[in-house]
Amino acid sequence: MTSTLAVRDTSVPLSRNKNLRKWVEKMAALTKPSSIYWVDGSQAENDRLCAEMVASGTFIKLNQELWPGCYYARSDANDVARVEDRTFICSLSKDGAGPTNNWFPPFEMRKKLKGLFDGCMRGRTMYVLPFSMGPVGSPMSQIGVQLTDSPYVVVNMRIMARIGLPVFAEIDKDVKRVVPCMHTVGAPLNPGEQDVPWPCNKEKYIVHFPETREIWSYGSGYGGNALLGKKCFALRIASNIARDEGWLAEHMLILGVENPEGEKTYVAAAFPSACGKTNFAMLVPPDSFEGWKVWTVGDDIAWIKPDETGHLRAINPEAGFFGVAPGTSEQTNPNAMATLARNTIFTNVALTPEGGVWWEGMTSEPPAECIDWQGKPWTPASGTKAAHPNSRFTAPASQCPTIDPEWESPNGVPIRAIIFGGRRATTMPLVYQAFNWSAGVYTGATMGSETTAAAAGAVGKVRRDPMAMLPFCGYHMGDYFRHWLKVQRSLEETPRIFHVNWFRKDANGDFMWPGFRDNMRVLRWIVDRAKGRAVGKETPIGWMPHYEDIDWQGLDFSQEQFEALQAFDRMAWRSEVISHEELFIDLHDHLPPEIVYERELLICRL
Ligand code: GTP
Ligand code: SPV
Ligand code: MN
Repeated sequence: MTSTLAVRDTSVPLSRNKNLRKWVEKMAALTKPSSIYWVDGSQAENDRLCAEMVASGTFIKLNQELWPGCYYARSDANDVARVEDRTFICSLSKDGAGPTNNWFPPFEMRKKLKGLFDGCMRGRTMYVLPFSMGPVGSPMSQIGVQLTDSPYVVVNMRIMARIGLPVFAEIDKDVKRVVPCMHTVGAPLNPGEQDVPWPCNKEKYIVHFPETREIWSYGSGYGGNALLGKKCFALRIASNIARDEGWLAEHMLILGVENPEGEKTYVAAAFPSACGKTNFAMLVPPDSFEGWKVWTVGDDIAWIKPDETGHLRAINPEAGFFGVAPGTSEQTNPNAMATLARNTIFTNVALTPEGGVWWEGMTSEPPAECIDWQGKPWTPASGTKAAHPNSRFTAPASQCPTIDPEWESPNGVPIRAIIFGGRRATTMPLVYQAFNWSAGVYTGATMGSETTAAAAGAVGKVRRDPMAMLPFCGYHMGDYFRHWLKVQRSLEETPRIFHVNWFRKDANGDFMWPGFRDNMRVLRWIVDRAKGRAVGKETPIGWMPHYEDIDWQGLDFSQEQFEALQAFDRMAWRSEVISHEELFIDLHDHLPPEIVYERELLICRL
């Protein structure tokens, strides 16, 4: 369907770049779309694409009085999360990808992909979507062009990245290498064939070629599988670029803590998928913390580089939040609720009779009835989830009430502390500080977490998830640890490294820590420690706060409760260290010696 309002011929290239135009032609010859569409990124274009998707059934326009500018989509039931077992790092050598990644010989994979992509866009439009990860023109930014047959992907990418004409202008300057990103839902249409609301293919391939910096994604339209700027580019490919150039591409939020004196301290924190990055990035301090404020820079990805003075600075390469919906409420995350109140795309949540959205945990009372994420009538008596556990909102970061004034600063913000944290029911205390950089790298490297619904597969099993990067590191994990250790050499001052766990449970299976706003109490100790102002005590695993080192104003939390939460259990740590060894055995021939020494030191202290 073409709009009569169209003022330009959208098949005419918007870039003069010969290499780009040649590549687009070549890929069109392979995928055989019925038309080619060059994306300008304008509001008018976005409105038109959304209207077309409403007409085709992919989108439902929400009640515009309640949810201005918002749309709703339901995915295919077989396309609801990242598919880690279908994600490949096709480096030239198997050793380059390492034992934690799926590897396939690149030559054979290219042959395979050529077959899959041959004619894969028949009956569809191929969109040429230029995007910048990081502010357009920033020295820390990177540029990609995604070819996709999914208009859903185009309108989501418009929120998640900077797209359109300004990016074509950057490409035409011909100063930065462009990462080519091929994407198809893998569902060609025969002449006259009726499309489905969420086209996809049962067979999925999420493929990365690290040496040539290419991405090929086949068969899925959902999240990190399809919004290729995110995990594929900003983590898997960028981690390779970062290794070559001496910086870090990390699965981290970035926030700034402002104290009552107006002094701001930025920290980055790596938690695995669906473990609280969005909540922490938008934290509202408890009422008793008068004059304290938390500013949001990013909620998922951080690119961190040493500057000329030997200090780490970070940018958020994204422009939006692709956040987990369930559990998000006015109580748990009012800033996220304000951010997603308009101009937001909701995927796989529930649809209410008044044309609004709902998900588990959004309100204390569920709606009397709604349509669930699979399009079926739902009531609280149904016994099923109305929203899929990995249902998400795509919302512009600029709408966040706590967005940091510096969030688009081309040179990023200075990072003073790095926090690692997993979802651990046992063993891990609320907070400790690693003794130094290499002990901190060891702490991150040996991080564990219970698996969540963000990836297809079993939920709730503890797995090693080094630096929350297990599914996202684009090369050998042992070399990645080595790179982290090496970064210290270009630093005049290293950020302090901490480990947190909001998820420790008692014998009844209840969380021992209230979490959410009260995480500010921990964050304050961390920031003060990083500035050399707070006291702690030495323990076998690192520095910990005494009970009186934490600001307890406004919270009834006894010393006994705190000691239980911080308890160091020698036997549990014994098994913990043994399970570190399991990861190390897999990585042994690439494991840096510092990691082995740190392990020995830890065992001695235990
Ligand atoms: P990705 O976007 O998947 O990378 O994950 P994320 O880390 O941004 O996930 P998000 O912040 O959306 O995590 C959501 C889950 O964390 C929900 O189940 C929340 O209830 C839970 N959560 C967040 N903060 C806390 C906390 O302080 N305590 C507890 N117990 N749960 C929390
Ligand atoms: C994650 O799974 O860590 C996400 C969501 O942030 S996705 O973009 O789908 O990878
Ligand atoms: Mn993530």
